[in-house]
Amino acid sequence: MMNILLFPASLRKHSYNRLLLNYLAELLGEEYKIDILSADEFTLPLFNQDLECDEEIIAEVAAVYHRFNLADGLIIGSPEYNGHVSPYLKNTLDWVSRLQRIRNPVFPANPFFNKPVLLASATTGWTGGLLGLQDARSIFGYLGCLVMPGQLCISNAENVFTGNGICFDPDYANYIESIVGQFRNLVQKHK
Ligand SMILES: Cc1cc2nc3c(=O)[nH]c(=O)nc-3n(C[C@H](O)[C@H](O)[C@H](O)COP(=O)(O)O)c2cc1C
Repeated sequence: MMNILLFPASLRKHSYNRLLLNYLAELLGEEYKIDILSADEFTLPLFNQDLECDEEIIAEVAAVYHRFNLADGLIIGSPEYNGHVSPYLKNTLDWVSRLQRIRNPVFPANPFFNKPVLLASATTGWTGGLLGLQDARSIFGYLGCLVMPGQLCISNAENVFTGNGICFDPDYANYIESIVGQFRNLVQKHK
């Protein structure tokens, strides 16, 4: 069974990005093992190289590293803050990326290498996080991931994720399904 890690990269309790990733997890279907990296499971401090000798922090980073390492594919949902990804996303990636360098051979693998990634963003702005995802594309590409050309930008998220449920424009709902289909194919190919 293939393992997909979904990372809603917002610390906000009622995050639209979390709701978006829950929706995508359901679309993926039951033949996938879904792992959702949730903000309340870990509290990594702001990255500081001086903290790399703190064993308590490194144990927490290691737990997150293993989740990335085990995944056959990643789905990232990042808010857009001033045209960039959330600092929480960048901070988590910076920590996880360090283990291979500072604790090799215990952590020999680059947990991002050759890993298919689907990027998504839900924002209350009208661009749906297009700029932030350019930033994400650059970061995940740098880490060695296979970033899917297709991505999901949800604009005016407060009108999509309402108290009455999730309401996508029907054409966009079809587009989301096709992108998820492409992601499934890419993951299958690189398993
Ligand atoms: C500091 C800050 C910067 C923001 N910058 C943008 C932006 O550049 N583009 C945009 O569409 N929305 C921007 N927003 C609005 C976010 O899209 C909105 O807060 C969204 O709900 C965040 O995602 P979340 O619901 O998953 O936490 C910004 C919000 C904050 C707090």
